[in-house]
Amino acid sequence: MKKNALIIGLTALLLAAAVSGCGQAEAKVKTITPGVLTVALSPDFAPMEFVDTSKTGQDQYVGFDVFLAKYLAEEFELKLEIKPMGFDACQAAVQAGAVDMSISGFSYLPERAENFNLSDYYYAGENETAQIIITSAENEGKLTKASDYSGKTVGAQTASLQLSCCQSQLPEDAIIKEFGSIDTAIEALRNGQIDALAVAEGNGNVIISNVPGLIKSGFQFEVDEAEENNLILLKKGNDELTELTNQALKKANEAGYYPKWYEEAQILAGLDTATEVAMDETAEEVSQ
Ligand code: ARG
Repeated sequence: MKKNALIIGLTALLLAAAVSGCGQAEAKVKTITPGVLTVALSPDFAPMEFVDTSKTGQDQYVGFDVFLAKYLAEEFELKLEIKPMGFDACQAAVQAGAVDMSISGFSYLPERAENFNLSDYYYAGENETAQIIITSAENEGKLTKASDYSGKTVGAQTASLQLSCCQSQLPEDAIIKEFGSIDTAIEALRNGQIDALAVAEGNGNVIISNVPGLIKSGFQFEVDEAEENNLILLKKGNDELTELTNQALKKANEAGYYPKWYEEAQILAGLDTATEVAMDETAEEVSQ
């Protein structure tokens, strides 16, 4: 009798453990669609997020932020679903609660801090340490300082840091033209519809490598240190997912993934100097 009671007791204990174990796995990370991490991104910002046209479906989205999204999904034991959309729409989707987060090369901006939960920073190499203006080769040497942009048409992406830089640092009579997509803005620059385009330097390097006839103007915006790295946008008040995201970001940083992802993303984006960049990094490590 005693032995039976013990066995029954043990079985009950094991069952309870198994059931609570399952429960925990299900509830590990709460997302809009259970079991799925939905991430919005605007795939027009190489090397952070862009389209590999040789692929289809979810596989076509590549870049640093895609590596990061995959890492987070794995950490959270969720399936990843990337939702491609315009940069402006990414922000609206997070606010509306249509996606769990947006990982799309976001810089810190005070208005974003007001409207979203911002994750801690993550570090995508030199991508946004400088904000610059690119132009066509025939403008070489002609657009190097802010006053040179008087009467010129300068493009920038809607709802971006680059747009606010143009608005606050270019002369009042510069014509600032907003583009929903950076790809469309590059086309407009090639066609001569705009004189110049404001971009993050890392993104500018990729554009120049891939589009013949475009150069750096030599002008650089003044930016705050707070704007030099990127962060993830989550819905205001979603503190639980923000906290888990920060823990995962810390883990990725400590594991040294960021420089590797950035280098890999630059190579995928066809940056001419990608191998040189890698060599420099190694050289730096050696000299430390
Ligand atoms: N870092 C800049 C910002 O926060 C530009 C980001 C653009 N990202 C993109 N996927 N188009 O405004």
